[in-house]
Amino acid sequence: MTKQRRQILVTSALPYANGPIHIGHLVEYIQTDIWVRYQRMHGHEVHYVCADDTHGTPIMLRAEKEGITPEALIQRMLVEHLRDFQGFHIEFDNYYSTNSPENRVLAEYIYKELQGKDLIEKRTIEQLYDPVKAMFLPDRYVKGECPKCGARDQYGDVCESCSSTYTPADLKNPYSVISGATPAKKQSEHYFFKLSDKQCVEFLQNWTRSGALQTEAANKLDEWFKAGLSDWDISRDAPYFGFEIPDAPGKYFYVWLDAPIGYMASFQHLCNRRGLDFDTFWKGTNTELYHFIGKDILYFHALFWPAMLHYAGFSTPTSIYTHGFLTVNGEKMSKSRGTFINAASYLEHGLNPEYLRYYYAAKLNGTMEDVDLSFDDFIARANSDLVGKYINIASRCAGFISKRCGGVIDYHPSAEDEAQKGFFNARFNKAAEKIVEAYENRDFTRALREIMAIADLANIYINDRKPWDLAKQAEQEQVLQTVCSLALSMFKGLTMLLTPVLPTTARAVEAFLNIPALTWDNEFTVIEPNHKINEYKHLITRVDPKQISALVEASRENLKPTAPPPQSQQRHAQHQQQSEVKNMNEKSPSPLTPLDSGSGLRSTSSIPGVVPAGEGIISIDDFSKIDLRIARIANAEQVEGADKLLRLTLDVGPLGMRQVFAGIKSAYDPEQLKGRLTVMVANLAPRKMKFGLSEGMVLAASGEQPGLYLLAPDAGAEPGMRIK
Ligand code: 2FM
Ligand code: ZN
Repeated sequence: MTKQRRQILVTSALPYANGPIHIGHLVEYIQTDIWVRYQRMHGHEVHYVCADDTHGTPIMLRAEKEGITPEALIQRMLVEHLRDFQGFHIEFDNYYSTNSPENRVLAEYIYKELQGKDLIEKRTIEQLYDPVKAMFLPDRYVKGECPKCGARDQYGDVCESCSSTYTPADLKNPYSVISGATPAKKQSEHYFFKLSDKQCVEFLQNWTRSGALQTEAANKLDEWFKAGLSDWDISRDAPYFGFEIPDAPGKYFYVWLDAPIGYMASFQHLCNRRGLDFDTFWKGTNTELYHFIGKDILYFHALFWPAMLHYAGFSTPTSIYTHGFLTVNGEKMSKSRGTFINAASYLEHGLNPEYLRYYYAAKLNGTMEDVDLSFDDFIARANSDLVGKYINIASRCAGFISKRCGGVIDYHPSAEDEAQKGFFNARFNKAAEKIVEAYENRDFTRALREIMAIADLANIYINDRKPWDLAKQAEQEQVLQTVCSLALSMFKGLTMLLTPVLPTTARAVEAFLNIPALTWDNEFTVIEPNHKINEYKHLITRVDPKQISALVEASRENLKPTAPPPQSQQRHAQHQQQSEVKNMNEKSPSPLTPLDSGSGLRSTSSIPGVVPAGEGIISIDDFSKIDLRIARIANAEQVEGADKLLRLTLDVGPLGMRQVFAGIKSAYDPEQLKGRLTVMVANLAPRKMKFGLSEGMVLAASGEQPGLYLLAPDAGAEPGMRIK
């Protein structure tokens, strides 16, 4: 019977272009990649596309903070993301960017189609506005005191202290997280997608029940329908990094409008490269479209996205496959516990990416349950299952074939071997059917359980026939060859079943067994008789628990005060610390006090007593976290009521103007300072002081004697130049 060749388009959620790929992201990419590889092994036509999600305020602000353009930032992140994905063997057919011409064209097209269906409406809304930064503030950029319990530094949507929910306008003493300024209310015209439109709600209710969603997801949607759908605000005001809305100068598509369109744009780019037909997949009825996503973005994918597609004349997704979050050792990933682990860091610690692929596969069961990474379990599964059960089959038998049988596979089976082979054959074929179903349904937990049960059988066979004993008896050479040949055939069968999870190991096994690329086969077949194999080399080694400890240690972000510098530097650092402390005494209780994990400047002398050996040294990476810049003192003035401070207005070239309060009044007449160049820390979190916002720090030297000496660059330096 010939199976129909399916045409499948698969996506994973687009990672934001302002942060590195971490092990939480990898749950999804590994899950999708396994599924895609499994489908490919069946000979289906599968296209797996993704892209960086590049638009929005955080990316714009991060680029500004780094003193580069958003385009330069997203280009750098794209390279890093691709490198990390490749490191974990995630094989996209196309990895693109939402900041692409294809995405702009598609976003404008979809928007105009929705407009044509009268599903777009303009409305004036009132929002919080940062008068210093001259921009509207997204909710997450406003903090203040909880209107219910008074807890400070709460975001504008939910209080982390008492869990009350509210709007940013309800916060007491609100401040902009960007500039520290008190936000003002300001009106602006926004564009809305009329999701609450009757026809739209009806369409979505039907679509939800069409089988495209897991039951848990469909139930979640029912809750949302019951609560009533609101119209969706799809525009943002300048300044914004994104696509300007046609015929609406100064208005931009909200990042979440063009992000999912990025799936289409990436596929369009692939079509252009490979001569594929775009419409076959986005307008046809014989192709399949699957989105793999995390449960936090279900709302966007199961409501906005199908509605956008439907009303713009495109096919809706066949299914949305939603997974849960990653927890580590039963808790949320945490920087202070060292469990917020970047993909690159995992690889740099010499850990095999296939351990993680195997581990996640063992935990993923196709539901929206969270996935827990327990390090003890991780080590046990890699060492006991992967190496102890699977790899061990080859490592226990391959040497005998090479050294005692001329590297040749052959069979002279006894009745017992025939019986064992028949038994294994039947068990393999039966399990393969279940494994197919499990892979298809993304129940990789079940697939691996079945596969490991077959590995157990192979190991029982080897333990029974004891090739190491046979090898001691010259007259048993043919038996030895048979047993090892059968065991290696079982190993080949297991490798075929594990290929979607362990693609690199599978390639190495094919090379060792000297066989063509494995394709899916539900029937167990032995390696051809008289077949020459290659010498066995280690395929996967055991995890050393020390590697995990080192990884956790390296990922731990030190949120406590850092250790003092070596003796020779201590005095200076202490002085800096003291003046900083004095400055801080002059501020009002600050909602903006930064944790300052990176610089090690402000907190050095706050650790009393002995310093553990080796601490106090920073790496070049630590140093490079400090953004030191040349600044021109555009203005300097006394601060009324402050004993020690001067208010400096600093021109930092492309970074703009900054206000900094510096404890240098005793040493400088403000008039002397105007126009001169100095050095500032440009990426210190802004701090709200009694006299206003301080947006950085200028650097000064001091010694045992009174006196403060502002740093100054050599002639030729310009405002904004980086100091490295
Ligand atoms: O939540 C996120 O990380 C988003 N960048 C996902 C976007 S997925 C798609 F819609 F583009
Ligand atoms: Zn509260």
